[in-house]
Amino acid sequence: MNKRLIEKRLGGVIYPGLDKDIVSLKTIQKIEPKGDTVRIELTIANESVFESIESQIHDVLKNDFKFIDIAFLANKKPSLNYGNTNKPNNRASYAKYIIAVTSGKGGVGKSTVSVNISVALAQLGYKVGLLDADVYGPNTPRMIGVNDEKLQWNDEDKMIPSENYGIKLMSVGLTTPKSDTPLVWRSSVAVSALIQFLEDVAWGELDFLVIDMPPGTGDIQLTMAQELPISTSVIVTTPQAISTDDVSRAVMMFKEIGVPIGGIVENMSYFIAPDTRARYDIFGSGGGEMIAKRYNVPLLGQIPLTMSIRETSDAGKPAVVTDDETQKSYYRNITQNLLAQMGILWL
Ligand SMILES: Nc1ncnc2c1ncn2[C@@H]1O[C@H](COP(=O)(O)OP(=O)(O)OP(=O)(O)O)[C@@H](O)[C@H]1O
Ligand SMILES: [Mg+2]
Repeated sequence: MNKRLIEKRLGGVIYPGLDKDIVSLKTIQKIEPKGDTVRIELTIANESVFESIESQIHDVLKNDFKFIDIAFLANKKPSLNYGNTNKPNNRASYAKYIIAVTSGKGGVGKSTVSVNISVALAQLGYKVGLLDADVYGPNTPRMIGVNDEKLQWNDEDKMIPSENYGIKLMSVGLTTPKSDTPLVWRSSVAVSALIQFLEDVAWGELDFLVIDMPPGTGDIQLTMAQELPISTSVIVTTPQAISTDDVSRAVMMFKEIGVPIGGIVENMSYFIAPDTRARYDIFGSGGGEMIAKRYNVPLLGQIPLTMSIRETSDAGKPAVVTDDETQKSYYRNITQNLLAQMGILWL
């Protein structure tokens, strides 16, 4: 059996969760038939789909070969040429400005802030893309209500970002077969997936590319700073995180690698009781200001802990698209302060 015929059979193997087969996705690296054995090498890194692809390949070739040897190679582009933080690459030349949203700590509201800043910018008429760089915990699709969408490809083999509330979104959450599929990736694989999101997504021309970072100060933050000329960054913290070293680590990392800091957002600053609207400083107050002063960076704003921010966010409706003017104003003011900080006028 020759390679072309084998390739034709492999054309019947569908990548789980996508409408495309493994041949048109160009994942086949090598087909090596030898007697009753065939070796097939594929450049697929997502371990969660290995089992399904393996069994489909067995099905389409079981009548032709006795032994089927399948190898998954992790890196599609092994010779990636990485930039460095002094002179970063620009893998997103389609974006005028790049905003990174980060924090040293998990669960402080980075994704909620990223989504609301993105939508607030779109409401001002800007073209906005949101890149979810949290490959292990991608929750932005749910926050803008596109978590049931599956990744589509255009005729030029570029991934089509999901769209809602005027923003384009790309997230690993859109590529996994189910939203709760766990990703078991080495960080080098996660980094190549993000580089693919920068280069192989049909973003179109963007005014702003907003990047929702994973928690921490690790590989992904560093890679983004090496591969993109980040225009500014937003550091999200909660008042109680200020008593730890996490925020300081995030600020220090960006200072050290030369990423400009647009300012600090203090999230879950105080609690507004839904019944009485009374304000409670559960975690104390003044922490955001303190950290801003210590590192000489602006405090872009404070967002209270409210039931509705969590509820609307879980329901796929960011605060800035709700009817609650007070709630909208927190994120709009932050966006306005950030633009002012970047020297861009509020239109
Ligand atoms: N101001 C707020 N009031 C109430 N709930 C909030 C607020 N900000 C964020 N939340 C909720 O807190 C949870 C964590 O927020 P979010 O996912 O934005 O944090 P994160 O920093 O991105 O987390 P991770 O580190 O896991 O990526 C979410 O359920 C979100 O809806
Ligand atoms: Mg997040």
